[in-house]
Amino acid sequence: MTTILVVGGAGYIGSHMVKMLLRTGYQVIVLDNLSGGYRDAVIGGDFVWADLADRPTLARLFKGYQFDGVMHFASFIEVGESVRHPGKYYQNNIANTLNLLDTMVKHDVNKFIFSSSAAIFGEPQYTPIDEQHIKHPINPYGRSKWLIEQILSDYDHAHQLKSICLRYFNAAGADPEGQLGERHSPETHLIPLVLRAASGQHSHITMFGQDYQTTDGTCVRDYVHVNDLCQAHLLSLEHLLSGANSAAYNLGNGQGFSVQQVIDVSQEVTGREIPVVIGERRPGDPAKLVADSKLAQQKLAWSPQYADLKTIISHAWQWETRCQNG
Ligand code: UFG
Repeated sequence: MTTILVVGGAGYIGSHMVKMLLRTGYQVIVLDNLSGGYRDAVIGGDFVWADLADRPTLARLFKGYQFDGVMHFASFIEVGESVRHPGKYYQNNIANTLNLLDTMVKHDVNKFIFSSSAAIFGEPQYTPIDEQHIKHPINPYGRSKWLIEQILSDYDHAHQLKSICLRYFNAAGADPEGQLGERHSPETHLIPLVLRAASGQHSHITMFGQDYQTTDGTCVRDYVHVNDLCQAHLLSLEHLLSGANSAAYNLGNGQGFSVQQVIDVSQEVTGREIPVVIGERRPGDPAKLVADSKLAQQKLAWSPQYADLKTIISHAWQWETRCQNG
């Protein structure tokens, strides 16, 4: 059986990945420190509660299992926090990732899938953003992701460690079967916050700026379903296992939706009125981020199944209502 280590498998995207890998027939081992994830989100496989800073535990883990590949989802993801506490981001997202990579090299594990981000591009020079777009991250979070991408290229050269970097645009939605979903604490992402305003859990949603150079003045993003992201991981893994070279792909649907459109579709999906308060712009928010994912479609045969925003929001709503009913 092919054995995969999923680091950060108790988190939002990682937990959906674990489910998909198990369904596909892989043996799965999850490593997570539960700083942002939940033990009950890991629906199967072996679970190791540990931190990537703990090198002795990592060494024991790699001695205990013969991993065929590693997927790495464990990172801090809040842009604003990364500006206030860069050391926290560089320590976890870079230094701890190096511990993982060095342990892999030492134990001859050489297939790696990395969760990268659209944040590596910084302020877009053009949209849709393809893989060639200049990388000029404008915050420590984005810099941590871009630095690891470059380090991976060095590790390929030096140690033949093959990697695929997947640059997510706006991960959204939830398990179509309603078993898993997004549980960040604190929650900062638009869709879950809009849905909490719909359910009455929050009094309103604050719209961060209405004076952008977009059709309705609100920021435009490319929302991509969490299961479609996981599908891209699975295809990337299969690619590496069959001998493919290292690569990086942008993952989005190629279609942008404004904050206002997200609120409108959420009202339609939930049948509730969503109170909106217009707030200040959030520092560091580009007006428009939309992916060109043609490369992933060509090279990985990736074909998103849940590209429709209404479907993405419906799945997120199914999860949100389930959480509220305990
Ligand atoms: N927004 C609001 N109100 C809120 C929350 C968000 O108006 O309460 C707006 C934001 O200003 C932005 C859009 O909704 O225009 C989406 O915001 P999110 O916080 O949901 O997502 P981001 O686009 O800021 O961030 C995502 C990922 C990051 C990644 C970034 C890449 O979550 O990890 O894309 O640029 F870094």
